Amino acid sequence: MSESTYAAADNPHDAERARLDMLESMNDPLTQRRMNEIGIEKGWRCLEVGAGGGSVVRWLADEVGDDGSVVACDLNPRFLQDLGRKNVEVREHNILTDDLEENVFDFAHCRAVLMHLPDPGIAIQRIAAALKPGRWVLFEEGDFGMFGATDLEYPGAEEFTRVSRMCWDLSVQAGTMNSYFGRKLYGYLRDLQFDDIHNEGILRVGSGGDDPIGKFWRASFEVPGMQRLVDGGVLQQSELDHLKHMMGDNDFHFIGGALFAARGRKPKT
Ligand SMILES: C[S@@+](CC[C@H](N)C(=O)[O-])C[C@H]1O[C@@H](n2cnc3c(N)ncnc32)[C@H](O)[C@@H]1O
Repeated sequence: MSESTYAAADNPHDAERARLDMLESMNDPLTQRRMNEIGIEKGWRCLEVGAGGGSVVRWLADEVGDDGSVVACDLNPRFLQDLGRKNVEVREHNILTDDLEENVFDFAHCRAVLMHLPDPGIAIQRIAAALKPGRWVLFEEGDFGMFGATDLEYPGAEEFTRVSRMCWDLSVQAGTMNSYFGRKLYGYLRDLQFDDIHNEGILRVGSGGDDPIGKFWRASFEVPGMQRLVDGGVLQQSELDHLKHMMGDNDFHFIGGALFAARGRKPKT
């Protein structure tokens, strides 16, 4: 496997599978709505970059049918080996360094991947080059700019807000994650002079405890990349423990990440 700065790259198998399951159930309905707006057609050749747990790959494979196909790429395709679809090709592939065919795909999608890359512009150029002229891309990426408690008076809420925002800033400084990347998607498509650009963002609000958003963030605070902030001396163990603790509290309400989405069509000429 190629080297990665991805904070969950070395998350143990079962923990990462469970975390990706939560990510998929939170985001798939939005992603499918956005893909339906584009109108995925039978016979299309699709590219899924950073395919993760594979739910989007399975959905796309069913949409394009037997005459279409999906290339599912991931730096670590450990969860893509058994998707049960004949029209899927899985590739171990680093979008920053490994070649892709050019001008062959009808649709390319990438979700919660670019924000984890040290140079997302390289990945975006490569994905754009892989599209046929006139065909669609959909990028969906997180943005944690509003992360924090909804009610700062709640016990522990102010500390949660302070520490979580500090973590996102530290991740940016360490170059391991661009925590505020979602808002930049539109600019990339505009600079590529894509046609029919559409841009939106959905902000997630939820609670700790049994709420899926709280469970997802608790699991995300447990990935090795978070512990590395403690080991590196920039975050206290008690601060990381506080974030996890608040994610176990059903009565604590917080603003999570926004999921931005930008789509557009590669120019015909
Ligand atoms: C947060 S997960 C998102 C998974 C999936 N896209 C989803 O939204 O359900 C990020 C994924 O990007 C992959 N990834 C990270 N860096 C990558 C790179 N340089 N090239 C390809 N995939 C990468 C990771 O292995 C992981 O599967």
